[in-house]
Amino acid sequence: MQGRKARGGRGLLDMEGALTARDRVGIQDFVLLDTHTSENAFLDNLKKRFNEDLIYTYIGTLLVSVNPYKQLDIYSKKQMDIYMGVNFFELPPHIYALADNAYHTMLAEANNHFILISGESGAGKTEASKKILQYYAVSCPSVSPMDRVRDRMLLSNPVLEAFGNAKTLKNDNSSRFGKYMDIQFDIQGEAVGGHILSYLLEKSRVVHQNQGERNFHIFYQLVEGGEEDLLRQLGLESNSQHYSYLVKGQCANMTSVNDQNDWRTVRNALSSIEFDNGDIQDLFGVIASVLHLGNVQFESDNKGNAKLNNSAELRWVSTLLGVSVQVLQEGLTYRKIEANTDEVLSPFTVDYATYARDALAKAIYGRAFTWLVNKINESMENKDLSRKTVIGLLDIYGFEVFYVNSFEQFCINYCNEKLQQLFIQLTLKSEQEEYEAEGIGWEPVQFFNNKIICDLVEEKHRGIISLLDEECLRPGEATDLTFLERLEEKMGSHPHFVTHKLADKTTRKTLERGDFRLLHYAGEVTYCVVGFLDKNNDLLYRNIKDVMRESKNAIVRECFASMESDNRRRPETVASQFKSSLVGLTDILMSKEPWYVRCLKSNESKQPGRFDDSLVLHQVKYLGLTEHLRVRRAGFAYRRRYEVFLQRYKPLCPATWPHWKGLPADGVEVLVRHLGYQPDEYKMGRTKIFIRHPRTLFATEDAFEICKNDLASRIQAQYKGYRQKGEFRKQKEAATKIETCWRGVQARKEKERRQWAVKVIKKFIKGYMTRGEAKTTDNSEYLVFVRQSYLNRLKNNLPKTVLDKTTWLSPPPVLTETSAILRQIHMRLLVRKYVRGITAQQKAQLQLKQITSAIFKGKKDNYPQSIPQPFVETRISEEDINIKVLQMIRHERIKYSVPIVKYDRNGFKPRPRQLVLTQTAAYMVDDAKIKQRVIYTTLKSVSVSPLSDGIIIFHVANEDVKQKGDLIMQCDHLFELLTKLSVVANKQNAIKVVQGSITFQIQAGKEGVVDFSSGSESMVYKDRNGHLMVVSTRTRVR
Ligand SMILES: Nc1ncnc2c1ncn2[C@@H]1O[C@H](COP(=O)(O)OP(=O)(O)O)[C@@H](O)[C@H]1O
Ligand SMILES: [Mg+2]
Repeated sequence: MQGRKARGGRGLLDMEGALTARDRVGIQDFVLLDTHTSENAFLDNLKKRFNEDLIYTYIGTLLVSVNPYKQLDIYSKKQMDIYMGVNFFELPPHIYALADNAYHTMLAEANNHFILISGESGAGKTEASKKILQYYAVSCPSVSPMDRVRDRMLLSNPVLEAFGNAKTLKNDNSSRFGKYMDIQFDIQGEAVGGHILSYLLEKSRVVHQNQGERNFHIFYQLVEGGEEDLLRQLGLESNSQHYSYLVKGQCANMTSVNDQNDWRTVRNALSSIEFDNGDIQDLFGVIASVLHLGNVQFESDNKGNAKLNNSAELRWVSTLLGVSVQVLQEGLTYRKIEANTDEVLSPFTVDYATYARDALAKAIYGRAFTWLVNKINESMENKDLSRKTVIGLLDIYGFEVFYVNSFEQFCINYCNEKLQQLFIQLTLKSEQEEYEAEGIGWEPVQFFNNKIICDLVEEKHRGIISLLDEECLRPGEATDLTFLERLEEKMGSHPHFVTHKLADKTTRKTLERGDFRLLHYAGEVTYCVVGFLDKNNDLLYRNIKDVMRESKNAIVRECFASMESDNRRRPETVASQFKSSLVGLTDILMSKEPWYVRCLKSNESKQPGRFDDSLVLHQVKYLGLTEHLRVRRAGFAYRRRYEVFLQRYKPLCPATWPHWKGLPADGVEVLVRHLGYQPDEYKMGRTKIFIRHPRTLFATEDAFEICKNDLASRIQAQYKGYRQKGEFRKQKEAATKIETCWRGVQARKEKERRQWAVKVIKKFIKGYMTRGEAKTTDNSEYLVFVRQSYLNRLKNNLPKTVLDKTTWLSPPPVLTETSAILRQIHMRLLVRKYVRGITAQQKAQLQLKQITSAIFKGKKDNYPQSIPQPFVETRISEEDINIKVLQMIRHERIKYSVPIVKYDRNGFKPRPRQLVLTQTAAYMVDDAKIKQRVIYTTLKSVSVSPLSDGIIIFHVANEDVKQKGDLIMQCDHLFELLTKLSVVANKQNAIKVVQGSITFQIQAGKEGVVDFSSGSESMVYKDRNGHLMVVSTRTRVR
């Protein structure tokens, strides 16, 4: 059984992986243990590894597993991934490696396999089988969208464990039935179906448990975890203590098991594996009816016959099973006896009634369990007929020894004997066959063959089972004790059989009179014969069977209907049935390729971290592990096909390196001679070389390691150099090529650019030279450029205000006209903007100013300075005009008032006055007096000088001598006053700027003169010539 074929060239590494393993903790493969014959060395290695939490060790491809009794972090998805598809010996030993190897071998060789998990109760078989199943569930490819089968295979586990496992003294979750499960794979390796075979459920547990043990988990789960409604329906109380079937071992509640949680798991699993509600109801009905049945009690009536003392419980049984109470009661307390053609009812004693009750409970539960397995099988069944290969998983109850051992232990231990026998046969056989096939002579290894014990138990006519059956079937008073006598009679001197009577003095002390002792391969077990006959008969009275066949509970009806009621032949005894089922199992297994997991218990107290040397050593011994190892090594620790061996080690010999031209076998011969192998160290088979001692191979491997390094670095260096040079040359060529191309591209681009530039420059120069001429092809572009550039510049240099007359770029000749138009447009734009921005007041002001301009612009020197001075409404507010004056003139509506200086017409004496303009006249006011009133109609004209003085002369039409003459005054707000006047009195045309002197009328017929001149200082005085002399400062001419 070699590792899987090379995948991606890794096959070669198989043995080498194992070789390097010696450097790790302990030795991963016992085959490599140098002192392989020493049991202590074996134990030591196991212990060393166990202490490092390395619970797995190989013996070749056999996996030894030591129960750690604690959760190890080695079962994660990550771990699974690591082991997936990797060769067996490449990684540390693991159950996954074995599962993976079996799976890939199955796929590669297209044949069937099985994994035999053995070990005594509590050694970890069930856990191991679960790990394997989980591994397949995760690692196998999945083509179908719903992983139906896969899920169901996983989910069936908690259900079967609930119904078939129980707490024993050895194991809190001890399997009380044997389980063989076929996982079917299609050609692609997908798990597509499953099938379970169950073996002999320990039914007696339903009605009795030894001290410290429990009934099957499901009872406690239902009672402790069942929903209130459900319990009410089933008539159950939520208290295990209430049920006599649950408390026989006095440990209904225990900390290591959480019944409530488990209940939920089981409940969910049931729904997920195609159990419909009816099935589930019926199933719970079965469990509940068993519990009620257990509480049915009998007492004896005066005739000594059994009668019921608690009809409530019986009513529940009848309700749950759907049978009539009377019929049920009759079935439990009477026996139907057929006398000729008549049927007679014979009453039971209390003991018999109790016995019948328990028999019924066991029968119902046992058959329901079978029904459950069938149901699960239906749900995992693969109906597709295409070719499939299977991996069988055997997880069967382990060897167990209790203080009192009964029929069940006898069966269980017999089963373990059979499996051990199978193991011995298969391991020896395969090894032997290989040597034979290769033509290698070898000396057989001594080992204990337990066939003698198997025969003791099962041999026809002479074996214990046959004797038991005979005793059960023979007429007359047969009892457990007569059975024991028969045994003593027949077995007498058998070396593996002893009883109180047969034993020598010392042994006798350890035996009771009703005991017999078998020296099993795994140790001696003392069986108490009490109950052997009953349990083997497993009798159920016919009338109660008939009752059950009428049940309304579909499961019960189905289970009992399948038994032919009329078959008068005695049914096969339990032991015979079991024996033939084991024969069947052996046949199933023999037709498949075996893989072994040997589970060892580390200590009896289920404690983590404890390694009980003697306990482990004992198991190592009886499991034949050292023998197995010896067989593995008897002859040869290693074997390899010639091709493979040569391929790996050929560098070690110049004759085989680098190529061997002849046959591989000859090459290997040359090679090993060169290496100095001694003749007894190896054998040449037909296709393989066999190497006896690991050290020989170690040495070869070490040599290879050194040589490989040497060789590798040499080859590497050369190859690297070669690669590097080639690479460099290639790169350089490529670089040059790219460079050349790139340069060409660049140069062409440059040339184009320059040609274009020359053309452009030429055209530009020509355009410049002919820029003044009309547009030609030569200068058109240049002119466009000129225009564009002028307009662009102009855009950024426009005048910002209306008054800015200076800012304007001088245009190039071609744009003179355009520029002028643009300037106009721009100005209009500014003006419009300005006009839009002015207020009504500003507008009125401007209108006034316009009038002023019409009168004075260019005529009077100080006019320009007046322009920016805004005109005001009035210079004297009404409060400042004497009230009397106001009263007199108010009705004429005062328009404007201004302080002035009035000059007497004769002496030109200056007098400050107020000049008030009304709608109709101008008034000269001196405080409360109106000195003169000039009605506008009499105002002929108004004269002012062209200089910058403020003198104003009103020429008044004056015919009367008594009337006052013209008015001479000086006003600081000359322009404002006169503009107002011109508006109020409509005198625009009457206002004159007079050049030279101004003549005025002092009174009718008498004239005076005012002279004007400029000087450095402004003055007004009467000149010697009698004129009024007005000197004004010269205003700067703009
Ligand atoms: N690989 C393991 N890792 C951790 N605990 C384990 C392992 N195998 C077994 N056990 C512990 O040992 C107990 C008994 O194992 P189980 O597989 O039920 O024994 P068996 O089936 O051989 O009687 C388990 O309930 C568990 O607590
Ligand atoms: Mg188990």
